[in-house]
Amino acid sequence: MNAAAQYRATIAVLAAVALFALSRPIQSAAGSKPASTGSRVADTNASPIYGVTIPVGFRQWELIAPSQEAGSLNELRAKLGNDVAMKAYRKGSLPFPDGTILAKVAWKRVSSAEYNSALGAPQGFVPGAVTTLQFMVKDSKRYASTGGWGFGRFINGKPVDEAQHEACFACHAAHAKEHDFVFTQYAP
Ligand code: HEC
Repeated sequence: MNAAAQYRATIAVLAAVALFALSRPIQSAAGSKPASTGSRVADTNASPIYGVTIPVGFRQWELIAPSQEAGSLNELRAKLGNDVAMKAYRKGSLPFPDGTILAKVAWKRVSSAEYNSALGAPQGFVPGAVTTLQFMVKDSKRYASTGGWGFGRFINGKPVDEAQHEACFACHAAHAKEHDFVFTQYAP
C-alpha cells in the first residue's frame, strides 16, 4: 500500500467510527419503536395481538347508530363509520370491504338536571365521561384468522390488555357471524 492509499484507508476508518458514534445517540433518542421490526404491534399505543391504533379524525366520522347498555356498565354509545364503512352500509352489501373501520364510543349515562327540570321528571340522560373507545379494522389478509377484523379497545388513549383482546373475536363470532361479525345495524 502506498502512502496515498494508506491515507485514504485511514480517512475511511475514521469516517466510519465517526458515523457509528453519531448514529448511536440518534437511534436511542428515537425512543420506543425498534427500528428493525416496523411492526405496529411494537407501538405502545397499538392494541395487543392486532396492532390497531386510534384512527386520526374518527370523531368526525358519520353516525351509524346509537345504543344503550343498561345494567352495571350504564353506558350510552355511538357507532361511527369511516367512508368505506358508510358506503357499504348504504349499499347493504356484506362482507365489509378492506379499509372499513368501525368505531364505538361509550360514555357513562348520566342524569341531566336541566333536562329533568324541563321534563318535570328525572328521566333525562346525557353522555358523561368517555369510558372506552373501540375499533374494528377490516383487512382480510392481515386478520385472516379473525374473520378479516382487527380489534382495539382503548381507555384514556391507551390500549387495554391482551386478555381483553383475546375475547373480542370470540364474542363477535358467536353472536354476529351472520352480519360479517358486526352487531350494529344502520339506523335510518
Ligand atoms: C361479550 C361479547 C363482546 C365482546 C367480548 C366484545 N364485544 Fe364488541 N360488541 C358486542 C356487542 C353486543 C356490540 C353491539 C352493542 C353496542 O355497540 O352497544 C359490540 C359492538 C362493537 C363494535 C361496533 C361494531 C359492531 O360490531 O357493532 C366495535 C367496534 C366493537 N364491538 C369492538 C370490540 C372490541 C375491540 C372488543 C375486544 C376488546 C370487543 N368488541 C369485545 C359484544 C362484544
